[in-house]
Amino acid sequence: MNLADKIYIFDTTLRDGEQAPGVALTVDEKIQIAQKLDKLGVDKIEAGFPVSSNGERKAAKELNSLGLNATVLGLARSVQKDIDAVLDSGLDYIHTFIGTSPLHRDYKLKMSKEKVIETAVESVEYAKDHGLTVEFSAEDATRTDLDFLKRIYNKAESYGADRVHIADTTGAITPQGITYLVKELKKDVNIDIALHCHNDFGLAVINSISGVLAGANGISTTVNGIGERAGNASLEEVIMSLKLLYGKDLGFKTKHIKELSELVSKASGLPVPYNKPVVGNNVFRHESGIHVDAVIEEPLCYEPYIPELVGQKRQLVLGKHSGCRAVRAKLNECDLDVSDDTLIEIVKKVKKSREEGTYINDDVFREIVKSCNYKKE
Ligand code: KIV
Ligand code: ZN
Repeated sequence: MNLADKIYIFDTTLRDGEQAPGVALTVDEKIQIAQKLDKLGVDKIEAGFPVSSNGERKAAKELNSLGLNATVLGLARSVQKDIDAVLDSGLDYIHTFIGTSPLHRDYKLKMSKEKVIETAVESVEYAKDHGLTVEFSAEDATRTDLDFLKRIYNKAESYGADRVHIADTTGAITPQGITYLVKELKKDVNIDIALHCHNDFGLAVINSISGVLAGANGISTTVNGIGERAGNASLEEVIMSLKLLYGKDLGFKTKHIKELSELVSKASGLPVPYNKPVVGNNVFRHESGIHVDAVIEEPLCYEPYIPELVGQKRQLVLGKHSGCRAVRAKLNECDLDVSDDTLIEIVKKVKKSREEGTYINDDVFREIVKSCNYKKE
């Protein structure tokens, strides 16, 4: 596999993640999340958009003073006052951007191609002159004509940008498209290339991975995949796929993933879907008889990896699909022992109760066992 030795994870939960409609993180919440991101092992944390409010500037300042291992960056449009706000926050790293696609040039910026380039390089130059390390994003890069994209990245590079990002702003590219794009850009761009993929078609993770397989060396992520519209490439899915499917261990302390996911869900008010890969509550829960039977023998029959790796726990759930094996396992867990006949009776009652709408939690299960005249046998 043609992967760079070092792949940087640029986490933007606190910026793009917070841009998800309805989300507003307090300074304290940003601090708690940043500390956990740092403990997990991300390389870069985008703290927010300092020009947008006092709170954002305060958060950026405080994050910067935490002494994290991760680099803390602030976002800025290619506008001097935005860059000044990043400087006021005391940050040494900036992420500047400008829209490059015809849609952004014509409708949003109302700028010619030349004006877009001029504006972008002025801001890169200004940021560099003020001592900042600069990561430059072409917004809507994936819907930008390739020649123009190459020109603007080359210009940014010649004015001192340290890294460029390909922003797939509307999640509109395919894995094949991003592969082609990165390979083309690598012919002309000599600085690092990173990916910022949105999930509008559910392809953010595979697009990010395809991009690094094609030679990029940075991926922008968010915890739980939160962010604008359908969100961003999910941090947990990216690092676990790279580690276990592509053999690229980024050295993350993955056992902290679940607690980070819960913290972000609580702070953002955005629930994690039960079936969300890696962090969803159902990812290591099993109910159907066939699966439970096999999992009791060998969990890997129906799990791609053990739950503890990501701070999750395996759970056998009783319900209408349960068989004797699952119920026996639950009895053992509750320190109860019954004869085979009683076991069959309990299984029948478990199925019936569930079909009648009762969720079989531990208390309900004990009631069922009692109703089958349970006595220690
Ligand atoms: O999606 C996007 O284009 C962005 C930019 C600010 C880089 O988030
Ligand atoms: Zn984005």
